[in-house]
Amino acid sequence: MIGAVQLGVLAACVVVLVPMGMAGYHLSRNKMLFFSGALFITLAIGVHLTPYFPSVTDFVTTVSSVVVFQNRRDSCLSHLHDLVWDVSPSPDSPLDFHKSWAWDDASSVSACGFQKLGRFDAADLLNGSWVVVAGDSQARLIAVSLLALVLDSDRMDQVRGDLFKRHSDYQIVVDEIGMRLDFFWAPYALNLTTLVAGFNRNRNYPDVLVMGSGLWHMLHFTNASDYGASLQSLRAHAASLVSSSEQHEEAVTGSVLARPSPHLFWIGMPTLINSMLNSDEKREKMTDVLRAAYDDQLRSSNLVRKSNGPFLLLDVESLSWNCGVRCTVDGMHYDMIVYEAALHIMLNALLIESHQKL
Ligand SMILES: *[C@@H]1O[C@H](CO)[C@@H](O)[C@H](O)[C@H]1NC(C)=O
Ligand SMILES: *[C@@H]1O[C@H](CO)[C@@H](O)[C@H](O)[C@H]1NC(C)=O
Ligand SMILES: *[C@@H]1O[C@H](CO)[C@@H](O)[C@H](O)[C@H]1NC(C)=O
Repeated sequence: MIGAVQLGVLAACVVVLVPMGMAGYHLSRNKMLFFSGALFITLAIGVHLTPYFPSVTDFVTTVSSVVVFQNRRDSCLSHLHDLVWDVSPSPDSPLDFHKSWAWDDASSVSACGFQKLGRFDAADLLNGSWVVVAGDSQARLIAVSLLALVLDSDRMDQVRGDLFKRHSDYQIVVDEIGMRLDFFWAPYALNLTTLVAGFNRNRNYPDVLVMGSGLWHMLHFTNASDYGASLQSLRAHAASLVSSSEQHEEAVTGSVLARPSPHLFWIGMPTLINSMLNSDEKREKMTDVLRAAYDDQLRSSNLVRKSNGPFLLLDVESLSWNCGVRCTVDGMHYDMIVYEAALHIMLNALLIESHQKL
């Protein structure tokens, strides 16, 4: 490769010699000066631009940094569930347990910069967005933990009462941040499909859609293949929600999350501790074997991202398993800290996906 110095020397020679040669062709002294100046400028520009033109390497670098960026995004999404739990007897009273969690401090995880969002950061992230949470009691607990994060405690006490009325829908607009949250009681995947089909029909869909179901089906239908079929139908409707929303891109609200397509999350079923379930019927039907069969159906329905589906899985099974037996009284519903962890995983996924991070 020709270095800048050699190029400079070459340029100087050309500037001097070409006009001198031309002088031999009887150019006037003024013309010679003109040519000399023009050549000098041309060469000077050429020399200065050269560093910008090994453009092939530049191009390759740009492409590879985009690839690196995407790999990093995918890798951080895959590390979202790398939490470390601490559940230990509290020093003062051994019957009370201290429970906490944090992201693993392995370098691959800490490089992602995950954070538990405070009230103001969460408000900032969710400002102006429409959030729909739908499903059974697990979904309700996720909705509670989201509202507990963005509302002050007085308002939250009021909300908690309304939201815990059994088996009912709930809607709230948090004026300060312009966030609307709808909770839909939808115990079966079929109910979720009806809901998504409605979004499709009206071409009106939330910015964030968080869904999950399975426990009710397990108890009342006790039929894994039927569950699988209902998940496949849900998958088809959710996939067309994503693709039609990409087609019908609309001018949107001020929300940072408002994008052509909604952010979809699937609330996985919790770890079931059979001996702790609170009725004979549950202990009899909701066995570990059936639980595993329901998991297989989730996998083969291609509902979640790992199997190329539209939903990012909030893996409540691993969260509840790691929090452990001290974190549940009925072997099915866990302490709020488990759903808070799921919530913070979701918020960090939203940060990554709305390009506010990395
Ligand atoms: C929400 O967004 C609006 C408009 O962009 C802004 O005026 C307001 O301060 C934001 N509120 C919060 C809590 O971030
Ligand atoms: C959910 O689906 C079941 C079974 O199709 C139906 O009986 C029930 O009314 C639905 N519930 C809601 C809340 O839509
Ligand atoms: C389970 O559901 C499938 C599909 O809905 C049905 O064909 C099958 O008969 C059901 N099995 C039992 C044991 O009810």
